[in-house]
Amino acid sequence: MAVFLYSQLFHVLIGFSFSCLFDVSSARTHVNYEIKGDVAVVRMNDPSARVNTLSVQMQREMAEVMDEIWGNNAVRSVVLISSKPGSFIAGADLNMIQACKTAEEVTFLSQEGQKMFEKIEKSPKPIVAAINGSCLGGGLEFAIACQYRIATKSKKTVLGCPEVMLGLLPGAGGTQRLPKMVNNIAFDMVLTGRSIRPDKAKKMGLVHQLVDTLGPGLKSPEERTIEYLEEVGVEAARGLSKCLQYYPFVRQQIYNTVQKKVMKQTKGLYPAPLKIIECVKAGLEQGPTAGYLAESQNFGKLAMTPESKALIGLYHGQVTCKKNRFGTPEKEVKTLAIMGAGLMGAGIAQVSVDKGIHTILKDTTLEGLSRGEQQVYKGLNDKTKKKSITSFERDSFLSNLTGQLDYNGFNKADMVIEAVFEDLSIKHKVLKEVEAVTSDLKRDDLEHVTVLFQVIGMHYFSPVDKMQLLEIITTDKTSKDTTASAVAVGLKQGKVIIVVGDGPGFYTTRCLAPMLAEAVRVLQEGVNPKKLDSLTTGFGFPVGAATLADEVGIDVAAHVAEDLGKAFGSRFGGGNVEFLKSMVDKGFKGRKSGKGCYIYQPGLKRRDVNTEALEILESYKLTPNAAISSDSDIQYRLVSRFVNEAVLCLQEGILANPVEGDIGAVFGLGFPPCLGGPFRFVDGFGADKLVEKMRKFEEVFGNQFTPCQLLLDHAKDPSKKFHK
Ligand SMILES: *[C@@H]1O[C@H](CO)[C@@H](O)[C@H](O)[C@H]1NC(C)=O
Ligand SMILES: *[C@@H]1O[C@H](CO)[C@@H](O)[C@H](O)[C@H]1NC(C)=O
Repeated sequence: MAVFLYSQLFHVLIGFSFSCLFDVSSARTHVNYEIKGDVAVVRMNDPSARVNTLSVQMQREMAEVMDEIWGNNAVRSVVLISSKPGSFIAGADLNMIQACKTAEEVTFLSQEGQKMFEKIEKSPKPIVAAINGSCLGGGLEFAIACQYRIATKSKKTVLGCPEVMLGLLPGAGGTQRLPKMVNNIAFDMVLTGRSIRPDKAKKMGLVHQLVDTLGPGLKSPEERTIEYLEEVGVEAARGLSKCLQYYPFVRQQIYNTVQKKVMKQTKGLYPAPLKIIECVKAGLEQGPTAGYLAESQNFGKLAMTPESKALIGLYHGQVTCKKNRFGTPEKEVKTLAIMGAGLMGAGIAQVSVDKGIHTILKDTTLEGLSRGEQQVYKGLNDKTKKKSITSFERDSFLSNLTGQLDYNGFNKADMVIEAVFEDLSIKHKVLKEVEAVTSDLKRDDLEHVTVLFQVIGMHYFSPVDKMQLLEIITTDKTSKDTTASAVAVGLKQGKVIIVVGDGPGFYTTRCLAPMLAEAVRVLQEGVNPKKLDSLTTGFGFPVGAATLADEVGIDVAAHVAEDLGKAFGSRFGGGNVEFLKSMVDKGFKGRKSGKGCYIYQPGLKRRDVNTEALEILESYKLTPNAAISSDSDIQYRLVSRFVNEAVLCLQEGILANPVEGDIGAVFGLGFPPCLGGPFRFVDGFGADKLVEKMRKFEEVFGNQFTPCQLLLDHAKDPSKKFHK
């Protein structure tokens, strides 16, 4: 609430003369400026944060500074620049939005932003935004309100509107200005939240000029910008104002196409993209007044949606899981040894060498090793193609990769990751070999060795270079420093990390298994794999349950179902494991074998259901119970088992907190992001309602649907929430 009052104050400040505000301006901490010749150089620097955000304070000071500059006859043009290395403005201040209690408050915030940028847009003196580093969300909206934009080619320079990923929209004029500047590419930018690199931004016409990353001896972007101003002449025509130069019916066509595409991709579960289309349309068809009004009102509405709250929750959770809650490890891992150059091992090697970790990749066969090395090369080379690294960087990273067949140098490694696929007997053999190598080490190396072999589990997800999650598994014997060390390595590799306790299936696999068991049962009841997939994606999972089983591997699913079934008993029942085994016997192991629930043909996107799998299903057929077989029932049967297991993991202490539970489920298993994870789902849906559903299923199917105690506790007391 305090924040809201603040912004009301801001409103008042804008409306009145600043002459009486001497005290306030003398206390400026976020924005300062100096006058060089006839150019005012305005610098932004939030002293309390790593990056600049459009906080209330920043906005207030900016308004003051601009008023002073506009009133100064000696100034003919303005350069707007950030004093933060690697960041222009990273976006709006999320706390400001989250502090609002009603849509109207958020709409008001949006209108304040719109007004401020309108003043910038109408500036009597041209303003150049000099962009070095991230220019995102509100930062980009600020920049596009300026008359000119110059960007450095620095790798950190990115422009984008990520609001949609938070279930919001660019609420300070972005939906209005962007489409006029970059034609229909703007739709893509705003709807996907994708960031754009400087060279592309230049091509699109989003920035006017690129300058090299500035090293010592070179001109500063400031000087360069001033030079640029001289080049273009301060009176030059403003903006690009391209407008969607199509006939109205063509525009209508574009809206329709975009809308259809959005509906297909979001299944209507994410309101933000549709609202964005509405705003763009209002502005282009009915004029700026209608457009800006639509933008601010929709911004307010979106901020109050559960989807936005869920996505913002995930954002905060992700930030939390990018920190090391175990502190700084005693020793930094500089050399990492990986045993096994399979898909997993090579993937781990790739995300390690390119972060400056010297990596030893070991395999037992030359063939396996060179396949692994090829994978790392290809991964890095793809990055070169996408221009995210140079070929020089690719080669110097690769020079830090040592491929070998023996244990040479393992005794100098700071950490050894064993990535031998699946087979436990090989795992034991490998560990024995490593022990043998290190057992005759010199005495003073001994302490090092104990640290080295403090065992900890690191559960990566495949493909390692794409999947963000890392699940770290500790036992009660794992030292805090070992955990800190593993987390530090994972963070360096760019992972989002959850640290869980040891137990069969850890956290993620344990949640997935009951859902897949239910999926098998649903198939046995005669539901087609395609239908099963559409029910799961219709709930918000990015991948349908049948496709997921094919991706994971039917053989792996069978193993997991059997192992966890042994460990947890009938709670993990439901579907018949024998069905999975029959599939494996026929060679239907999922995508990797070309056949699973579906048939996969190389190069072919379309997949047909594997009719032979349906034949196998015939012999495991179950009669569905009509009372609990509606589409919605099937969805809740699948989801409630997942969610109940997640809550049980928290109850048993496998999970340290609900935040990591949500992050693990969304980032590792694709739990619907619009629901924010299993715990936020329970908070929103209501534990009591969920328990009621589970009881109904329990009556028919038995104890795999028995709600766990913690869920019952929450159902009894509605004031109990997993998230504040
Ligand atoms: C631009 O940002 C990079 C960090 O990404 C920094 O190294 C460089 O000094 C910055 N350039 C200037 C001139 O501010
Ligand atoms: C290679 O690894 C070492 C650490 O072992 C690191 O200091 C160095 O920067 C790495 N080189 C590259 C090119 O990343």
